[in-house]
Amino acid sequence: MEINLVSDTVTKPTQEMLQFMFRAKVGDDVYKQDPSVNELEEAVAHLFGMEAALFFPSGTMANQTAIKLHTQPGEQVICDKYSHIYHYEGGGASFHSGVSCCLVDGTRGMITAEQVRASINDPEFYHAPKTALVSIE
Ligand SMILES: Cc1ncc(COP(=O)(O)O)c(C=O)c1O
Repeated sequence: MEINLVSDTVTKPTQEMLQFMFRAKVGDDVYKQDPSVNELEEAVAHLFGMEAALFFPSGTMANQTAIKLHTQPGEQVICDKYSHIYHYEGGGASFHSGVSCCLVDGTRGMITAEQVRASINDPEFYHAPKTALVSIE
């Protein structure tokens, strides 16, 4: 098996992985009747010590939903200048959530607490958008 960490989309599943997927028990996820999704969500909730978890079939869907849940239109998200939410999601953050991004000049995608602190807008300065979220990849 080739493992390429550039992206999850590059790694190819093995025959064993494909067979496992083929044999997976499936059902209607909306009615919580998909045993595979239920098991995955329970395992992830347990892993992170949370009450519940939600399975998303794509990273973009998860990112866009998270931004929507944590912000109000007009607010601002702090993220690295090369972040996926800013560069590769078709402007979805502004379209779906009505937010702007405050770009941080990180190092290979990594931003520091000090950079984040310096990017938070003064809540008393009402001309600036309210800082609502920090996105870390
Ligand atoms: C950090 C990050 N977010 C989101 C995505 C998008 O994931 P998807 O292609 O499943 O929508 C990727 C894809 O590589 C990613 O690296």
